Amino acid sequence: MIYILDTADLAAIRHCNEFYPLAGVTTNPSIIARENTDFWTLVEQIRAIIGEDKMLHVQTTQTTAEKIVEEAKLLKERLTGEFYVKIPIGEEGLKATMELKKLGIGVTMTAIFTPTQALMAAMAGASFVAPYVNRLDNIIGDGTRVVAEIVNQLEMYGSDCKVLAASFKNAEQVHLCASYGCHSVTVTADILKLLISHPMTDAAIAGFEKDWKAVYADKTILDF
Ligand code: G3P
Repeated sequence: MIYILDTADLAAIRHCNEFYPLAGVTTNPSIIARENTDFWTLVEQIRAIIGEDKMLHVQTTQTTAEKIVEEAKLLKERLTGEFYVKIPIGEEGLKATMELKKLGIGVTMTAIFTPTQALMAAMAGASFVAPYVNRLDNIIGDGTRVVAEIVNQLEMYGSDCKVLAASFKNAEQVHLCASYGCHSVTVTADILKLLISHPMTDAAIAGFEKDWKAVYADKTILDF
């Protein structure tokens, strides 16, 4: 499983990059706008925190293929390293994806809600397709089932495009995506924490500490 952080909050990125096996960061225009700061300063700070080897996915603000390609080239040039431009699915986006494939710029096709959208994006040359799980669940669209269908179809057609499931509101959605063989997920810091939390784990750790302290007080292994 490839875990990616879906935020532009620098403190969250610093924390999660240190404590979790993160493969990178994804953003979109809403996430960037939430920080309400200079665009280039923000994304270059994200790159500086995660380094060149981790993926940085930044979404285009353009709507025509020509302008999307122009923006993608600029983003790739300034953000260097493992960079992917996010492009919403649509005719202009597909055209841009085919051109960017030739230029060697990775594309994450986003705002995916159906397997037919995902398969078309993969055939156009997208490296990742990003289905929105919770937004589908919100309209009784069974988001994780859609992810499973996309995973199966990409495999069926021998595509090397990866599924980057997005839009999560709970750990169960992530768990189901993993069960269905989804290649990657992009989640918030809160969801990352939920994925490793369990009250029985807390109880087990408290028990170890209590039993140890009853015999050795504050001594640790390093003190023996
Ligand atoms: O990148 C897409 C993802 O951020 C959408 O998440 O929570 O806005 O549905 P959400």
